[in-house]
Amino acid sequence: MTVSRLRGIPPTIFTEMSALAAATGAINLGQGFPDVDGPADVVERAVAALREGGNQYAPGPGVPALREAIAHHQARHYGLTLDPGTQVVVTTGATEAIAAAILGLVEPGDEVVLLEPYYDSYLAMIQMAGGIRRPVTLRAPDFRLDVTALRSAVSERTRLILLNSPHNPTGTVLTAAELRAVSEVAVEHDLVVVTDEVYEHLTYGEEHVPLATLPGMFERTLTLSSIGKSYSFTGWKVGWASGPAPLVRAVLDAKQWLTFTSGAPLQPAAAYALDAEPDWPHRLAASLRERRDLLCEGLRSLGLATTVPQGTYFATTDITGLGWPDGEAFCRALPERAGVVAIPMQGFYDPDRDRADQPGRQLVRWAFCKRPEVIGAALERLAGADLGGPLG
Ligand SMILES: Cc1ncc(COP(=O)(O)O)c(C=O)c1O
Repeated sequence: MTVSRLRGIPPTIFTEMSALAAATGAINLGQGFPDVDGPADVVERAVAALREGGNQYAPGPGVPALREAIAHHQARHYGLTLDPGTQVVVTTGATEAIAAAILGLVEPGDEVVLLEPYYDSYLAMIQMAGGIRRPVTLRAPDFRLDVTALRSAVSERTRLILLNSPHNPTGTVLTAAELRAVSEVAVEHDLVVVTDEVYEHLTYGEEHVPLATLPGMFERTLTLSSIGKSYSFTGWKVGWASGPAPLVRAVLDAKQWLTFTSGAPLQPAAAYALDAEPDWPHRLAASLRERRDLLCEGLRSLGLATTVPQGTYFATTDITGLGWPDGEAFCRALPERAGVVAIPMQGFYDPDRDRADQPGRQLVRWAFCKRPEVIGAALERLAGADLGGPLG
């Protein structure tokens, strides 16, 4: 039944793993959502908007207060000056910003260079737009950008680079030198860059630098973010794109036929969060850093080779040596064996790869955006379980 533009897009692994967590009562370190909500005063703002008549269609590009707050946020944190009238658009989560950016900028047959492993909606949207993906692989255990590979992925058919830093699922935060290399390639080949920066505030030492701040980059960069990760409101799905007016216009041109406008009552609350709670994400990052360390030390003490992430919610382990054919088999067995859910990284690598040539085959992703006691309980369960595989 499936139409060709959806064919071959693997189903998201999160649905299966979260269902497995629910069915087995396992602790879910799979999907990246916090188990504590964002600031209560921000929630009160949303409640007030619901009660006070903020319930009809918002303007297509978003309510003015939120567009202004996004412009202030980019100025306050990064020194970027944006016109909220033409250089900012509010979307239904960063997910819609990704969809609208790709549908609005990629012609059928255009090539899109992107970092592999990748957030799964990138693949789906490039395919739906008729684009061709050209992955540049970040390889374990360090997951650094291979600049030579980036250069050779670009051809005369490349339309855009789709970047993501801080990077899900590896936790890599691109360094100044890596960002400079991306900017040089983009300028040299006159490419647009769409950069997904939803984890912009969730870094642990390595400072996040928006690509748009590099010389020559603002005019060719569309920056995406959302309220979900920065303020622990992943269910709100309030996101945005910002950048030069023609790129923002392209997002809006596609967005108007996807959702027309995004949910009205949460937008004033998101504006309030950005304006009145500018330091909240930094406090969240400090607390996440402690939880990252708790999880990574725990996983290491179990004998799992663990890459400590510089950003995001996720740590990665290599299960080579435990005797499993791959991370998928390990993660399917883990709820029964240990009462814990984690996510195999295979799903984040290109599905067209030969199964044997899968740089993510032995990798497993664990989320640490959970309360310390939940992480502690998961580690205890893992320590008490036999993690050895059927081949071990
Ligand atoms: C890299 C990346 N981009 C985008 C999103 C989605 O953001 P939103 O919930 O705002 O749609 C996520 C969520 O996990 C993500 O990890």
